[in-house]
Amino acid sequence: MSNLRSLFFIIFIVFAIGCEPNPFAKGALVYKNMCASCHMDDGSGLGGNIPSLNNNLLYKDMELLTCTIVKGRVNLENRSLAMPAFDQLTDIELANLINFLSHQFGDDKQYLLNDVSKFKSGCTE
Ligand code: HEC
Repeated sequence: MSNLRSLFFIIFIVFAIGCEPNPFAKGALVYKNMCASCHMDDGSGLGGNIPSLNNNLLYKDMELLTCTIVKGRVNLENRSLAMPAFDQLTDIELANLINFLSHQFGDDKQYLLNDVSKFKSGCTE
């Protein structure tokens, strides 16, 4: 009987873990919809025209990374494309996106909504 109970318990645990939503799913969706067309699904970018987001140095400067997304950036290195501004993202969408980027392509740090709002309010025009 106690064996049966353990079996049910194990099945319950497997289900509980299996059903837990991926914490990065929402950020992944924003990335897929808004960024992947240029930076590619795997973040590798496109040759000399679109920078790779994999292990990008900007993960060490999250404020600059956030501002690059929100304000866009015009052609720093004579690329034929510019980075468009994504100022329509809500702070929550931005936080989901940034956590996804850090998890998927960066140093896997976690940022709270508050941190991201602060990064954003530090962006200059
Ligand atoms: C239309 C194509 C395009 C889209 C869409 C796009 N980017 Fe970019 N992104 C670029 C280009 C081009 C640059 C380089 C700009 C430059 O030369 O300064 C860039 C630069 C960046 C950088 C700075 C990288 C570095 O090495 O300095 C980050 C971070 C970034 N993009 C993230 C994103 C995210 C996140 C999204 C989605 C919200 C996104 N981009 C959507 C084209 C795009």
